[in-house]
Amino acid sequence: MSGPPAPGMNLGQSRMEMAKDVKDEDKLYKFEGVIYSSIMSPAENLEGAKTMEARADDVMLVAYPKCGFNWMVAVLRKMMAAASGKKETPDMPPLIEFFSPDTQKLIAQRPSPRFLGTHLHPVNIPVSFKEKKTKMLVVWRNPKDTLVSYFHFMNKNPLLPSVEWDKFFSDFMSGEVVWGSYFDHAVAWDKLMDDPNVKIITYEDLKQDLSEGIRQISQFFGFPLTEEQVQTIYSETTFSAMKESGSHGKLGSVFFRKGEVGDWRNHFSEAQSQQMDEEFSKRLAGTKLGALLQYDTYCK
Ligand code: A3P
Repeated sequence: MSGPPAPGMNLGQSRMEMAKDVKDEDKLYKFEGVIYSSIMSPAENLEGAKTMEARADDVMLVAYPKCGFNWMVAVLRKMMAAASGKKETPDMPPLIEFFSPDTQKLIAQRPSPRFLGTHLHPVNIPVSFKEKKTKMLVVWRNPKDTLVSYFHFMNKNPLLPSVEWDKFFSDFMSGEVVWGSYFDHAVAWDKLMDDPNVKIITYEDLKQDLSEGIRQISQFFGFPLTEEQVQTIYSETTFSAMKESGSHGKLGSVFFRKGEVGDWRNHFSEAQSQQMDEEFSKRLAGTKLGALLQYDTYCK
């Protein structure tokens, strides 16, 4: 993003430092029935986001937590820089729920195209995005690996309370986790899959063929890229390239862990695996998103 100065990646870093003095039990709270981080998404942010004015040419990235959001942040930033011929500049995480009321005012003045993102459930995404027909790229990942990634994130991220595996497993299954239930989000996005302004991609497909993912994303947003530019972005956004780039400073180990498909096998008990299979079948079997996630391939 370019435009008026805004707090950079240091914002996240300084809040992480701040969080070290906050007790675990004070790190989360509920807003309209959903758990959020009290440090990153206090009620004033979420209240303010409701009336945020979207633009038709905003580039909006959406993901349930741990589905590959930061990976796609890197891809989209590089893509926007390549398409505009401008240099990529480090910036704050583009999550609208992290914007304080002051930052919301700055964002309103930014020139187009703005790069924004959210982990919010689609019903909580500011209504203006729908009215303006803003294009949204939505990243999904199989629920077993998402849960494992979330578990480690809870324990590595100082903004969030530490968790124990069995308890976190049951909280994830009942949706009592930050940003709410994986399944509620997935079921809601499934209903939007035919919307021409929504493109859903999966972590697993991106792992299979990142170059193709980059081509599809650039087509969806209308950022023309040469094949050489696609390959440059590819080589800069593989897991090892991103991990080694040091782009997230001291937080690198929080955001880049294993970057693999199937790590759930090292964590789930047989009973937990079965419970997830049953839940998936109850909530997503026979749906378009369910098919896209290729559950039998990646989760059995
Ligand atoms: P793991 O914990 O399974 O390693 P999010 O950005 O939505 O929080 O998602 C984080 C997950 O994406 C982590 O998964 C992280 O390692 C993985 N990830 C980050 N960058 C990646 C990349 N370039 N390629 C593949 N996976 C990546």
